[in-house]
Amino acid sequence: MTKNPFEQAEEIAVKLAAELPTNADQLEQFRITYLGSKNIIKALFGEIKNVENERKKEFGQVLNDLKLKAETLYEGFKEQLDANKDDQQALNFDVTAPSKPTNVGSRHPISILLNRIINIFERIGFVVAEEREIETDWYNFTAMNTPDDHPARDMQDTFYLKDSTEYLLRTHTSSVQARIMTTQKPPIRIIAPGRVYRNETISARSHCQFHQVEGLYIDKGVSFADLKQTLLYFAREMYGKDTQIRLRPSFFPFTEPSAEMDVYWGLKNEDDYRITKGTGWLEILGCGMVDPNVLSNCGIDPDVYTGFAFGMGIERQAMLQYKITDIRQFFENDVRFLRQFKGAI
Ligand code: PHE
Repeated sequence: MTKNPFEQAEEIAVKLAAELPTNADQLEQFRITYLGSKNIIKALFGEIKNVENERKKEFGQVLNDLKLKAETLYEGFKEQLDANKDDQQALNFDVTAPSKPTNVGSRHPISILLNRIINIFERIGFVVAEEREIETDWYNFTAMNTPDDHPARDMQDTFYLKDSTEYLLRTHTSSVQARIMTTQKPPIRIIAPGRVYRNETISARSHCQFHQVEGLYIDKGVSFADLKQTLLYFAREMYGKDTQIRLRPSFFPFTEPSAEMDVYWGLKNEDDYRITKGTGWLEILGCGMVDPNVLSNCGIDPDVYTGFAFGMGIERQAMLQYKITDIRQFFENDVRFLRQFKGAI
């Protein structure tokens, strides 16, 4: 004898209450049986015609309850199984496995060299001074004994800020000399690294932005001999303990006397001939005794104090050091280029 619709519903309710899927396949089976497009609860809706009229509503309610129950159970089981999966994964974790390597960046070659140079001067008592890249005409030129009509202003093609004759991008780190001398009292012993800008055509050999390091030492009785010895110390720390230097007379508006320092690079191969233009000597920096006009422009008495200053470009030294042939590579941020310097500080 076939069971009446209420009994059939009861049977499904009992079966449903006993369900406990323990893996994804069983859960899927549960879904097909109770919630799928041909599920057994849905099938019972067809039995409604065999229910006496006054109980039809009640039967509908029973089936809806069953459907709801199946849905709630399904969600619960699914949640439980997902959680178990996470637990299982956590248990499977191999605590002895080596960790994935973290991706460490590399320092920019310019920074590597700047750090080296700074370190060399810090060892003999220089302190780092960093200053603004947007300067006024006064700090960049006038204070540095380079008045308006001075031809040296043409030597360093200047970027002025839009519509300004006063604000500019510093053309050299010598502006830091004026910044420090107007705010500190001697003795002054600073090393000033930073970016500078000149309106030059960009090519493999020159760029409109580059880096310099400026040195300044002011005290009573500072002499040219001190400058020479300081530079010799630097050259030997930087280029090797037997490095020879030479000082050639030169001109800068802010130093008197002025000189350029070369280091002996050698003429071992064809590259050396090219790099040193056949002389064996490499020009590294400009230097000199701080012009008395600069001292008085900045409020330091030139009758009491003397000082020396020097300034050097970084890019060219980095190009030599790392055999880089195109200066533009420093500013392109190509990670394939930068990664070559991994591990250096
Ligand atoms: N400022 C000079 C330049 O940019 C370098 C320099 C600095 C020379 C200090 C003498 C003293 O070329």
